[in-house]
Amino acid sequence: MPFNRKILITGGAGFIGSHVVRRFVKNYPQYHIFNLDKLTYAGNLENLKDTSEASNYTFIRGDIVDQTFIDELFAVEKFDAVIHLAAESHVDRSITNPLDFIMTNIVGTVNLLNAAKSVWQNPNSQSQTPFLFYHVSTDEVYGSLGKTGLFKESTPYDPRSPYSASKASSDHLVMAYHHTYKLPVVMSNCSNNYGSHHFPEKLIPLAINNIKNNKPVPVYGKGENVRDWLFVEDHAAAIDLIFHKGKIGETYNVGGNNEWKNIDLIKLLCDVMDKKLNRERGTSEKLITYVTDRPGHDLRYAIDSSKLQNELGWKPSVTFEQGLEKTVNWFLANEEWLNNVTSGNYQHYYEKMYSNR
Ligand code: NAD
Ligand code: TYD
Repeated sequence: MPFNRKILITGGAGFIGSHVVRRFVKNYPQYHIFNLDKLTYAGNLENLKDTSEASNYTFIRGDIVDQTFIDELFAVEKFDAVIHLAAESHVDRSITNPLDFIMTNIVGTVNLLNAAKSVWQNPNSQSQTPFLFYHVSTDEVYGSLGKTGLFKESTPYDPRSPYSASKASSDHLVMAYHHTYKLPVVMSNCSNNYGSHHFPEKLIPLAINNIKNNKPVPVYGKGENVRDWLFVEDHAAAIDLIFHKGKIGETYNVGGNNEWKNIDLIKLLCDVMDKKLNRERGTSEKLITYVTDRPGHDLRYAIDSSKLQNELGWKPSVTFEQGLEKTVNWFLANEEWLNNVTSGNYQHYYEKMYSNR
């Protein structure tokens, strides 16, 4: 069957990107899905091993910061749409090494915007759908909430970490290309995700891994900070909906309506893990260790997703209890994946695999 759309997904070997790629490859056999990923420490082709043989899927290893490579790739492939997820995504790393975030999140996004603008202005003659650039972003661009209130699409940007500042910058650039050049764009800002294939430097997978291995579970500060957690497959479903039905030039907030104080969430995870590992109740909680707070630690994030719910009909498909159960089960069943990502084994493998290209 000939494909009717060529879609470039960036960062498809990462946590959220792999769920988006898997969903699009499976649900849209009429689309040719290209996954462009640098395979940093956070990206890993094992995340897509169930998808890699599909006839509508192509993997390309490459760096969005490399302008010549990006321009050539777009000139050759003439994509009909881009879903941009590639990013440096961990706040703590952005505090120790901001420049990586500036390069990938800002310069990389501008390279993609420029290449996208060229293809949009000179499309493939066989293109059947109007061009679209979909930028995937975070609620962290809105800054930190007090004890009450929710982030709306109209909330002014107030990023406070190098990560959120780099994402805010990329969001502004995407909208600037829309306003200045009329590039057709759409954007979403999502709350904290959790689920399978989550790199174990982020709170939920790190806690699961440490509890499993009887290692201390670090709680920053007093554990009073609040996050709004969304199951990653529900985020992928929102991206699918916004990609197909979202209005050009609009932003949609995506969130779980599921706020948890870090300490309460960690205690819940300890309970779930005690049951799964047949430990006496209260055993895992003893691993909780209070550590020095993250500098500039945002107190609270919470999303108002009513625009997405009312205008496009999205809603989360699982409760937090169900999502967490699926997540914990996945991590316990995928010990080899955890060992390989934490030891950097996949990295060594890719370096060998791609060194001759
Ligand atoms: P991740 O760190 O798990 O994955 C990022 C992917 O991008 C990796 O596969 C990595 O190899 C790739 N990448 C990094 N630099 C690259 C470069 N220069 N060129 C090409 N590829 C590169 O991130 P994630 O958690 O899956 O987040 C994906 C997107 O969603 C990001 O844009 C992030 O800002 C956004 N987001 C994340 C969350 C969350 O809770 N994780 C919430 C809202 C929005
Ligand atoms: P994280 O998963 O890094 O996501 P983000 O910083 O993007 O929200 O952290 C989630 C929350 O958990 C955040 O308030 C920081 C806190 N945290 C800890 O208390 N201990 C940890 O070991 C980590 C990684 C995070």
